[in-house]
Amino acid sequence: MKKYQFAEKSISLQADMNKKLYIETYGCQMNVGDSEVIFSILAKEGYGRTEDISEADVILANTCSVRDNAEQRIWGRLEQFHKQKENRPQVVVGIVGCMAERLKDKLLETGKVDLVAGPDSYRTLPVLLRDVAPDKPQINVMLSHEETYADIIPVRTDRNGVSAFISIMRGCNNVCSYCVVPYTRGAERSRDPQTIVREAADVFSKGYREVTLLGQNVDSYLWKSEDGSVTVDFPELLERVAAISPLLRVRFATNHPKDISDRLIDVMASHGNICRHIHLPVQSGSNRLLEKMRRRYTREWYLERVAAIRKAMPDCGITTDVIAGFCSETEEDHQDTLKIFSEVGFDYAYMFYYSERPGTLAARHYPDDVSLEVKTRRLNEIIALQNRLSLESNKRDVGKRFTVLVEGPSKKNPEELCGRTGSNKMCVFPDKVHKAGEYAEVEVVSCTSATLICKLAE
Ligand code: SAH
Ligand code: SF4
Ligand code: F3S
Repeated sequence: MKKYQFAEKSISLQADMNKKLYIETYGCQMNVGDSEVIFSILAKEGYGRTEDISEADVILANTCSVRDNAEQRIWGRLEQFHKQKENRPQVVVGIVGCMAERLKDKLLETGKVDLVAGPDSYRTLPVLLRDVAPDKPQINVMLSHEETYADIIPVRTDRNGVSAFISIMRGCNNVCSYCVVPYTRGAERSRDPQTIVREAADVFSKGYREVTLLGQNVDSYLWKSEDGSVTVDFPELLERVAAISPLLRVRFATNHPKDISDRLIDVMASHGNICRHIHLPVQSGSNRLLEKMRRRYTREWYLERVAAIRKAMPDCGITTDVIAGFCSETEEDHQDTLKIFSEVGFDYAYMFYYSERPGTLAARHYPDDVSLEVKTRRLNEIIALQNRLSLESNKRDVGKRFTVLVEGPSKKNPEELCGRTGSNKMCVFPDKVHKAGEYAEVEVVSCTSATLICKLAE
């Protein structure tokens, strides 16, 4: 343990006011939020943000380990970062985030990395950067039971100034057998609700109109005051954030099917500014595989939760994640997955094939025995089905009216604006009146499987 460096939380270093920090962010929204925390921590040390790698003094990759291909991309980028040193040998190249936590000093052995920092060690970045030298790489991969960066005001890196992500908890206490996140992010801990509400109110006062509350399993958010006299759970937190202003839209992710409660559904249904969208990863439609994945629900339970959501909010968007080709998956298991997709009719899905992650329960206990060919074929079948379901879901919206929050010009056609419905569908529409951050009433005229094509409602 000796080579790891630690720092006092209060440490303050002499600031060199002209340094430039470049961060490439991979993986989930948690990492996006963490990069904003890193910019904030290092701004105090005089580091300005740059998006031009060739002028950066410090280059960081905030990394993801969830699937092997996520890591492979980083290895490729590392070569590119290393090239920056050809003319500027003083440039510091660092790997932070989940891959830093997973691979630890193995990253230093490449000789191409000067700094390695895990997700709970960002407060020590100033010290690590102070001490780093060509023959003295620095590493801190300590995980914490308390760190939530609650007091740090993130430097927003979104481009539209409309929608902000707010981390409400860190880590994960579930042990889904395929998943590396509990190992890279550590134990679950919830952030003080006052700091969450303050951050949401602050972004609202700066013109943002949407916040997304983030956690690996928001349903298990639970904050207790030090003396244990006050507790705040997720439905209550949601109500507090929704109370900031009816003009502030509130979203959240991710819900866990085993934990999503009737109370949460009631709170959503009774607040007009809590968006009607639930991301509810199903992972598999086969009870045998759900058990093996340690998801701790059955397909019947999942379908009952979907029915409860739709009963309370018939217009609620439901999206999901799925893994094709998990250990021992048979053709019958795969058919169960296709069946549950059809039964629910998801509005959208993130679809993956299984990638074995070293150290997870599945890697230790179950052989990764579905061939790549079969995994790919099954994944493609799920994708083809979901494309049809997304199109059907969008077709059902043709002729309907929605209130969308304008995000800015449409990417494909800068003459048009784009924005999302509460159910999280992307709309594009010709509009010379509204600006980013305003609400527009639109009517859907046609659609593709990815977009609702709209006009301003009369
Ligand atoms: N906390 C969230 C998701 C975390 S990771 C949840 O519980 O759902 C995001 C998604 O990546 C997961 O939902 C899962 O579908 C996928 N995933 C995680 N580990 C994986 C692996 N080893 N191989 C393929 N996909 C994986
Ligand atoms: Fe991974 Fe499961 Fe935790 Fe999600 S709930 S992060 S899939 S262990
Ligand atoms: Fe997110 Fe990837 Fe880490 S999904 S929590 S960045 S492993």
